[in-house]
Amino acid sequence: MKTLRILAAACAIGLLPLAAGQAQPVQATKNPSAVPDYVPRSGQPGKDVVWVPTQQVLVDRMLDIAGVTKDDYLIDLGSGDGRTVITAAKRGVRALGIEYNPDLVTLSRRAAESEGVGDKARFVQGDIFETNFTEATVLTLFLLPDLNLRLRPTILGMKPGTRVVSNTFTMDDWEPDETIVVADNCSTYCRAYHWVVPAKVSGTWRLGDGELKLSQNFQMLAGTLMREGKAQSITEAKMKGNEISFLAGGQRYTGRVENDRMSGRNEAAGASREWQATRSDG
Ligand SMILES: C[S@@+](CC[C@H](N)C(=O)[O-])C[C@H]1O[C@@H](n2cnc3c(N)ncnc32)[C@H](O)[C@@H]1O
Repeated sequence: MKTLRILAAACAIGLLPLAAGQAQPVQATKNPSAVPDYVPRSGQPGKDVVWVPTQQVLVDRMLDIAGVTKDDYLIDLGSGDGRTVITAAKRGVRALGIEYNPDLVTLSRRAAESEGVGDKARFVQGDIFETNFTEATVLTLFLLPDLNLRLRPTILGMKPGTRVVSNTFTMDDWEPDETIVVADNCSTYCRAYHWVVPAKVSGTWRLGDGELKLSQNFQMLAGTLMREGKAQSITEAKMKGNEISFLAGGQRYTGRVENDRMSGRNEAAGASREWQATRSDG
């Protein structure tokens, strides 16, 4: 019954190629003959969402917009045939796939070995809702909107600066920092969204002899800067991980947040000054 609900939901939003009879065998990560007895089919049932692979051109672009480097630890939630993890590993990134289907896990491990990245690309069989993924510095997903929403509180609790890239599906009212659409060599599911987990800055901060009051909705900020007895609304105010940026009284403030301190520079009329603030609301 549950599987039917999931299949119906996937059909409704187009993540399943219609009727089962239309399911297509898919060229999994290279060397499918490494697992001769198991060839996954696009649209085959999965625990909470069917398996449809992200097209390779979008995998590449998702890693590009996340700006992955060799210092990152990437985790793909529901890793399918392992292509995102293996592609990341080929870029020198340590990467882990969490996948519920044990056959896909075996297929992925063998593909990683045969592509020479078995040391960097690891796969675990498990449920993404029961496996700790909070050590990742980059998360990739191709799930469903309601699954993204269930994962969202955990993701927002991860280290500020963690990058999250989702194929096709959004995070409800958490607006993405960036959206890309791949036009060439991509036929379906060619859009990806990128978020950066924001530091939590809501509250009151002492800034020199003034006061900065911030309210926060995900990465978007609003508030006032009180200086020399004058309250100025802040505009264009945003977090990108630990980086803060806002305009107040015609001055652009940029800076970095570390726990209960923030510091940076403000620019106005060609002059640049340092500023610092500390939390004053405990
Ligand atoms: C749409 S596919 C995406 C595969 C891969 N991430 C990609 O982009 O090519 C979703 C994958 O999630 C897996 N999956 C579904 N529910 C899961 C769960 N609760 N825990 C782990 N994996 C799950 C499915 O088996 C499937 O391989």
